[in-house]
Amino acid sequence: MTMMESFRHHTRRDQVFDFLMPPAIDSLDLSKNTILYLEGLNVSFDGFKAINDLSLYIEPGELRCIIGPNGAGKTTMMDIITGKTRPDSGSAFFGRRIDLLQLSEAEIAQAGIGRKFQKPTVFEPLSVFENLELAMSGNKGVWSTFRARVGVEQRERIEACLEQIGLKDQAAQRAGDLSHGQKQWLEIGMLLMQEPRLLLVDEPVAGMTHQEMDRTAELLLSLEGKHSVVVVEHDMDFVRSIARTVTVLHQGSVLAEGSMDQVQGDARVKQVYLGE
Ligand SMILES: Nc1ncnc2c1ncn2[C@@H]1O[C@H](COP(=O)(O)OP(=O)(O)OP(=O)(O)O)[C@@H](O)[C@H]1O
Ligand SMILES: [Mg+2]
Repeated sequence: MTMMESFRHHTRRDQVFDFLMPPAIDSLDLSKNTILYLEGLNVSFDGFKAINDLSLYIEPGELRCIIGPNGAGKTTMMDIITGKTRPDSGSAFFGRRIDLLQLSEAEIAQAGIGRKFQKPTVFEPLSVFENLELAMSGNKGVWSTFRARVGVEQRERIEACLEQIGLKDQAAQRAGDLSHGQKQWLEIGMLLMQEPRLLLVDEPVAGMTHQEMDRTAELLLSLEGKHSVVVVEHDMDFVRSIARTVTVLHQGSVLAEGSMDQVQGDARVKQVYLGE
């Protein structure tokens, strides 16, 4: 460690005192109409190049689908955006000013980037409503003030969210009793309660019934314009049902980008998917 690195390490806010957590990171600069800039990213795992000179740009409010064969680097890209994996080189900015590579995972979440993992992580013993309530209170000393805090305004927000995720009738139900698809929607709802500017969703429809997939498509489409959403998914019928711009990743870089028809008609994309 150089002296400077050592200094930074020992003065990281999130590792000194929890209560000194990020003072709201300065507001997003969306000039240039871009909310996420990934430029020239590289990541190697034991000499294997999982991300290779990757550049990707996302607009505010856009719904972007990312496809690509297994091992293309899709999840690793999300890991970089959320601070779970640090790239060997390249840059990652949220808006024009927020350098994601300088922030901890917690600070990145705080700055407005939400991530949905494949396995839903809802609080099973709590009701659907309580799960949303908990998500809304975020990091602010949750349990102690749990019940006291739900005023009219908060209740209305929770109800609007229940409507949006299609779980109005399940509000009082124990989250553990929901179907797999319903749990996925609840988790998306929990992320929405934190009002992310950018939402990353990895394989949302794996294990869902066709009906649940249709409902998930509607839900993701309803977020368009309000949140930027990046969806990684293998199910091509599902991708087609929500596709605007589609990016194809292959061997850690962008192979093709365009409408669903454009990318599916691309000879290089066909070649990569051949035999899958
Ligand atoms: N922490 C890690 N250590 C070592 N190798 C890793 C690590 N994470 C990912 N990889 C490797 O990097 C490559 C890219 O993996 P990644 O999970 O990003 O692919 P993906 O596009 O999400 O694939 P899938 O569609 O199967 O989910 C793979 O070869 C994977 O084995
Ligand atoms: Mg993956």
